[in-house]
Amino acid sequence: MLALPVLGDNFVYLVCRDGRAVLFDAGEANPVFKVLDNEQLQLLEIFITHTHHDHVGGCRTLCDRLGVLANSPAVEEKVYTILGTPCRSIATPGHVTLHKCYHFPELQILFAGDTLINGACGRLLGGTAEQLFQSLQKIKALPDETIVFGGHDYLVDNMEFARYVEPDNPDIQARLEQYQHDPSSAIFVTLAEEKQTNPFLRVDSAAAFAELRRRKDCF
Ligand SMILES: [Fe+2]
Repeated sequence: MLALPVLGDNFVYLVCRDGRAVLFDAGEANPVFKVLDNEQLQLLEIFITHTHHDHVGGCRTLCDRLGVLANSPAVEEKVYTILGTPCRSIATPGHVTLHKCYHFPELQILFAGDTLINGACGRLLGGTAEQLFQSLQKIKALPDETIVFGGHDYLVDNMEFARYVEPDNPDIQARLEQYQHDPSSAIFVTLAEEKQTNPFLRVDSAAAFAELRRRKDCF
């Protein structure tokens, strides 16, 4: 699996096997073309978490030039077989009303888009706090070993907010310090580690979640 930084603070992801690849989100086309070329990979298809421009801005160019199709987040939840391994799409509304996360149980990875973004969650830009809270409960129910790959690098801002909410939580401070040494290992952590450091996974009611989201919007 390759994590490609695009547009400054976004990520798109390539799952690769035997010279073939599938792309998750497509905020920008050129970095994807470059990696496909360098790694000699054939792109088979694209999966989209949600249709904000910073997640789909390169999609049309990639589809047109490579002759591949993109899977919309608007289709129903289903289990795909991708490069020989199962991948389940999970409806996770809240950031927007149409949002999918993609879970590979055998690879133990989750592409979380803007539902769960390293240490926090997406803003409410169309969906409701109740929806996003319920979506995060679905993610929390996945195996703890799952590594979460969100749509952005917002780790410093998110951990600073987390530290403000929970000043005595040593795991939050440790994740922030880890970022200084090795950003990737602090951004992409297991669901178990997210549960220790992400305040939005540590509230147990939609009302508490909504209040937390409001506080972060003003932070
Ligand atoms: Fe978004």
